[in-house]
Amino acid sequence: MARNAAPAIYQIYPRSFQDTTGNGVGDLEGVTRRLDHIAGLGVDAIWLSPIYVSPMVDGGYDIIDHTAIDPLYGTMADFDALVARAHDLGLQVYLDQVLNHTSDQSPWFLASIDGDEAMAERYLWCDPKPDGTPPTNWLSQFGLPAWHWNHKRRQYYYTQFLPQQPALNLRCAGVQTAIAAQMKHWQDRGVDGFRFDVVTAFLWDTVMLDNPPATPEVHRKVAGEVFNPYTYQDHVYDMLPGDGASYAEKLRAWAGDDAYLFGENTSGNHSIELAMAFTEPGRLDAVYTTDLPANRGNPATVADMIGRAGSLQRIVGWLSSHDQPRHGRGDASDAVLALQMAVLPGPWIIYQGEEYGLPQPDLAFRDVTDPFDLLYWPDGPGREGARVPVPWDAVADNYAFTKGTPWLPMSWDRADLQRAQAQLVPFYRQILEMRSNLGWHTASVEACHANDDRLDLTIATTAGARYRGIFCHGSGRADDAPTGNVLVSADRLRPPRDPKGWHGAIWRL
Ligand code: GLC
Repeated sequence: MARNAAPAIYQIYPRSFQDTTGNGVGDLEGVTRRLDHIAGLGVDAIWLSPIYVSPMVDGGYDIIDHTAIDPLYGTMADFDALVARAHDLGLQVYLDQVLNHTSDQSPWFLASIDGDEAMAERYLWCDPKPDGTPPTNWLSQFGLPAWHWNHKRRQYYYTQFLPQQPALNLRCAGVQTAIAAQMKHWQDRGVDGFRFDVVTAFLWDTVMLDNPPATPEVHRKVAGEVFNPYTYQDHVYDMLPGDGASYAEKLRAWAGDDAYLFGENTSGNHSIELAMAFTEPGRLDAVYTTDLPANRGNPATVADMIGRAGSLQRIVGWLSSHDQPRHGRGDASDAVLALQMAVLPGPWIIYQGEEYGLPQPDLAFRDVTDPFDLLYWPDGPGREGARVPVPWDAVADNYAFTKGTPWLPMSWDRADLQRAQAQLVPFYRQILEMRSNLGWHTASVEACHANDDRLDLTIATTAGARYRGIFCHGSGRADDAPTGNVLVSADRLRPPRDPKGWHGAIWRL
């Protein structure tokens, strides 16, 4: 299938999507069974969060074998069936590529501990300072120490997330050969593209100096909350020194021109500028930053991103994921935000279940397994709540997710779910169809005015049509709306718990 310029991508976190075995955990066969629903929404592609062999310390992002399916999710035959069905339905399939690290249970890492120096080069092993302390002051993005002592090697190894995720040295030739082979392995099975995990963490500066403290400006903007000490540093030496973004040219060369490639940028510090660098010609198609979800699609944030990027063609829009609390509220704001996303030019990621307006569920401490959430409980990022399984059926036992016990407790409001199935899902279908048929996804931004409560956006499509969207977030006014007929409005969806002042509509000019 040809590479799509600005696809609508449905993100699937397989563990929480659809269980077919009764073990309470979603699986690949479950994904295949629900592909009709996804294709029916009118998206162009699915992105599967990692399905590879993993001890699941970081929800599957700690990988032992990047080329094999974890038995928890099924078999390679299940995967092949999934890809075949997706293609029959016109959906492209994108896989997650976690290149920054392996699991500490990976045979590569275990061999490096045992003294295999070729394998040791695939990671970052460093001698301690003379006083036994770590080589630099670097921290992991979760706020943990970045360096962990190994008594066998009498060295520290470097991590950017959990201690169980040793960082891969992406400059190492052996690692590069392995990455190219693993991407080809999946493309040979029909995969159409890849989502690259945390591209901003790909490289560090080999001079190995301490990061300086963050200025107040950087402190405010850097990824994470102030409870996370990672925000106290300016990541000069541990994150993408110099022209690090040009590494994306290697990814493009390995994947080829037909593959759709997008990456995750977790650095709030210069996020848009980095996204633009990663998506120069010959690099990735698009990159997403945390600006939009961190601010729940706030109009001023949208305008700031457009101002800094010029166009949004190379920035993926999204509001929820397996890493962010769900943005749904089960009220009028859900439809307004969906319409705003649909008319923003560029690719768009829809997270599983957001078409049901699902709000972020509360979980009890005893139910939470995510180490990042647990570190800062109850003030953490809320990742596990976003991973509570999708409720497919408002009246069925366990909402038809599983015949067993779901791996996280599911407690969704059944009346809200029924209403969303009747109203919000058809609205997503309608606006996804308009987005591609009218060419909003490949349009350019002609004008954008915003404050915290109101976004007023005019776009021009490549066919020369112009559309204006006005979105009021709570208290913004729409007195100056065009006088012509509204093309599509979110206002017809008015659930009972509708807060005043959320409006959104689009006019053809
Ligand atoms: C990405 C993933 C996240 C994971 C982290 C480390 O941000 O989306 O879930 O914890 O990378 O791999």
